[in-house]
Amino acid sequence: MSSVRLESVSKHFGDVVAVDEIELEVEDRELLVLVGPSGCGKSTTLRMIAGLEQPTAGTISIGERDVTDVDAMDRNIAMVFQNYALYPHMNVFRNMAFGLQMRKVAREEVRTRVTEAARSLGIDGLLERRPAQLSGGERQRVALGRAIVRDPEVFLLDEPLSNLDAKLRVSMRSELVNLRRGLGATMVYVTHDQVEAMTMGDRIVVMHQGRIHQVGPPQQVYFKPANRFVAEFIGNPPMNIIRGRIENDSDTPVLVAGGARIRLSGELGQAASQVTEVDFGVRPEDLRLDETGGDVEATVKGTQFLGSEYLVDLDLGGPQLLARIEGHGEFGIDQLCRVAIDLSRAHLFHPETGDRL
Ligand SMILES: Nc1ncnc2c1ncn2[C@@H]1O[C@H](COP(=O)(O)OP(=O)(O)OP(=O)(O)O)[C@@H](O)[C@H]1O
Ligand SMILES: [Mg+2]
Repeated sequence: MSSVRLESVSKHFGDVVAVDEIELEVEDRELLVLVGPSGCGKSTTLRMIAGLEQPTAGTISIGERDVTDVDAMDRNIAMVFQNYALYPHMNVFRNMAFGLQMRKVAREEVRTRVTEAARSLGIDGLLERRPAQLSGGERQRVALGRAIVRDPEVFLLDEPLSNLDAKLRVSMRSELVNLRRGLGATMVYVTHDQVEAMTMGDRIVVMHQGRIHQVGPPQQVYFKPANRFVAEFIGNPPMNIIRGRIENDSDTPVLVAGGARIRLSGELGQAASQVTEVDFGVRPEDLRLDETGGDVEATVKGTQFLGSEYLVDLDLGGPQLLARIEGHGEFGIDQLCRVAIDLSRAHLFHPETGDRL
């Protein structure tokens, strides 16, 4: 069993609260992704699991063992860093073998493990080269290989793909997912890239200012964001959020924002009845432009052509919305149109706490 558990874990650096009483459980063989903006505490969390930082408070367990006070060397984890951290003067073989040699693993065994890992990563032809003679993607594989040969209980990866160009990143992403299936390993993967988080994670953990805002499978986090922060952070382009007043129109709550009046029935209506003011959220792909029907009137303020779709900036007489429209529609600037909103996919958030209503 190589699950990981963090209980009430905090890390303070002087006055800076880098991680603030988090509770987290990584299941055996799970790929858990920590995602959040720069400075939210992802690396600090990972480094505490690795034993490279001592928590200010709380306990960390790997499997059934409390490792809070166990040295990094004795935790049976392997960490892969963004900058690879390869030894420049050693060839690929030695870079991969070094950790095993330090642990006095027998020579033959080292050779077997390194060769096998190199083969699984497609770098078995590069074992004699030094890091300077490798491409970024190859260096990243060596760094991964060095982790794999250790056969750790848990892999910890801190933005391992962020130094690669966009295309390589996408292919390495799926390679990593496949590799990890083959290894049957438990992995904690840190990224600030929400696309990476969504595509790779069995579950994702959204962090902000040292706290965990939501933990769940990607679909859940996307379709049922726990609060406004998660709603805006996950999804690209981000969810539209408009602040509005709630009025009652023959017992149906109506959201009033600028020139728009949006009738909120069903679940949304029930949620709206708790408040007088609200943040209304809807994703760009859940809007449709309509000549006649639709829920609200809007003016087109700009369009961006993305190939298979358009992004259309809309003005609702005050509030702005971004719509993502498939197909080949042409929209003139200042053109008036009607916008249909898929209310079954809209969200309401408390105007002060930001919590989902
Ligand atoms: N050794 C340190 N001393 C003081 N403050 C630190 C130290 N390490 C991290 N911090 C602070 O703790 C907070 C969390 O940092 P952390 O590196 O965990 O963020 P992150 O989520 O990994 O960000 P990024 O996406 O930029 O890598 C930041 O405010 C950072 O400045
Ligand atoms: Mg970091």
